[in-house]
Amino acid sequence: MTTPSRQQIRPPHGDGLRDLSGDGPRTAPAGAPADTTVLGLPLPVVLAGARGHGRWHLDNIRRLQDKGLVRLVGVCELTPLTEDELAGQHVEQSADFGALLDSTGAAVAVICTPIPTHTDLALTAARKGVHLLLEKPPAPSYAEFRRMADGVAAAQVVCQIGFQSLGSHAVPAIRRLITEGGLGRVTGIGGAGAWARDEAYYRRAPWAGKRRLDGVDVVDGVLTNPLAHVVATALALDGSTRAEDVTDIRTELLRANDIESDDTSCVRVTTTGSRITVAATLCAERPGEPYVLVHGTGGRITFWYKQDRVLVQRSGHGLEEIEYGRTDLLENLVEHLTGGAELLVAPESTGAFMKVVEAIRQAPDPIALPPHAWERLPGENRRVVPGVDGFVAAAADTLALYSELGASWALSNEVSTR
Ligand SMILES: NC(=O)c1ccc[n+]([C@@H]2O[C@H](COP(=O)([O-])OP(=O)(O)OC[C@H]3O[C@@H](n4cnc5c(N)ncnc54)[C@H](O)[C@@H]3O)[C@@H](O)[C@H]2O)c1
Repeated sequence: MTTPSRQQIRPPHGDGLRDLSGDGPRTAPAGAPADTTVLGLPLPVVLAGARGHGRWHLDNIRRLQDKGLVRLVGVCELTPLTEDELAGQHVEQSADFGALLDSTGAAVAVICTPIPTHTDLALTAARKGVHLLLEKPPAPSYAEFRRMADGVAAAQVVCQIGFQSLGSHAVPAIRRLITEGGLGRVTGIGGAGAWARDEAYYRRAPWAGKRRLDGVDVVDGVLTNPLAHVVATALALDGSTRAEDVTDIRTELLRANDIESDDTSCVRVTTTGSRITVAATLCAERPGEPYVLVHGTGGRITFWYKQDRVLVQRSGHGLEEIEYGRTDLLENLVEHLTGGAELLVAPESTGAFMKVVEAIRQAPDPIALPPHAWERLPGENRRVVPGVDGFVAAAADTLALYSELGASWALSNEVSTR
């Protein structure tokens, strides 16, 4: 299935072209195909899941509202937002997502709800012709991902997946350098994420740190949720974003916290062109900026994706540090719908990432680290794995898994092969 072309995009909630802004229909922008459906700005947006990370979306929607690109028309939450949370803006609120899309005439929905709710909510919107920004990970299993992606494609709506690091202008720049041979032959890609999460993080919601809940998949582990961007960005720099680009996956899933899921894990993904090793933990001694490291015979590139910062080290070229700009994914979706900009993160381009999610879902339950391998940090109420920061960095450096690096706590871990 592919993303619908601009000619296939249909307006929401009906067959004909509706003026969604109340300002009268807009004309097609210069360069847009004459017969494309053009949605009028500002596009009416409903946000589902407005607390937690949804607060960031609320701020971002307000930012784009100030630019005249979108208009917040509805919030879907289990308990309505207060006036303070809405900063005085009057919008419709309902816990019934489908009814809210109908009553507000939304053109776009931003879905920032717990992972197991993604597919059903996305399909509710798609059936109503409402375009989507769907948070990552798109789904908790490959089957649910296919159900979502196929349903969205069949409904001919546009769906952007919320891997915001893939909006970084560093990604195409690094890809260009690689394909032009600027690093020589690429020998592999490493990824490193050493973050800290306190014990309250796993208690904030019933699905947090779970592999399954009430009989459905959740798969909320360090590589599939908090540091999923490291995996997705490494796959993007490898040019291996589609499901069929992945040939083998090996996982080592461990946990220091008293949770069902993993918090200290690594994965090796063999792709048709290369191999990628990503190591991550939420139990860092000294949390740092996550990064992706491209190794080549002629040099290497470090990409701190949250900062859009790149360090190029090439023999004969010295060091070059570059800071790139970034395209916001909701803004890109609006521009795709109204002006024909290329969509940055279509569902199919997260297929390889979803293969990793599926391998983690199918792997044996994470191994609990022995009590001597972790300690509770006084004052911070979080668990720390002494030495883990070094293993995370070494994995990205050498492409070796924790067990191959000799981490004593990883040696007995089962390794699953896809
Ligand atoms: N892109 C990123 O950087 C990033 C960062 C954090 C979280 N996320 C993703 O955002 C999503 C939400 O994560 P979170 O940590 O904020 O979760 P959370 O559980 O802390 O918050 C989810 C919110 O959704 C609401 N909610 C739950 N079910 C709902 C439903 N059926 N309809 C409407 N609202 C509902 C809850 O009341 C809550 O306010 C997840 O998919 C997560 O992976 C992405």
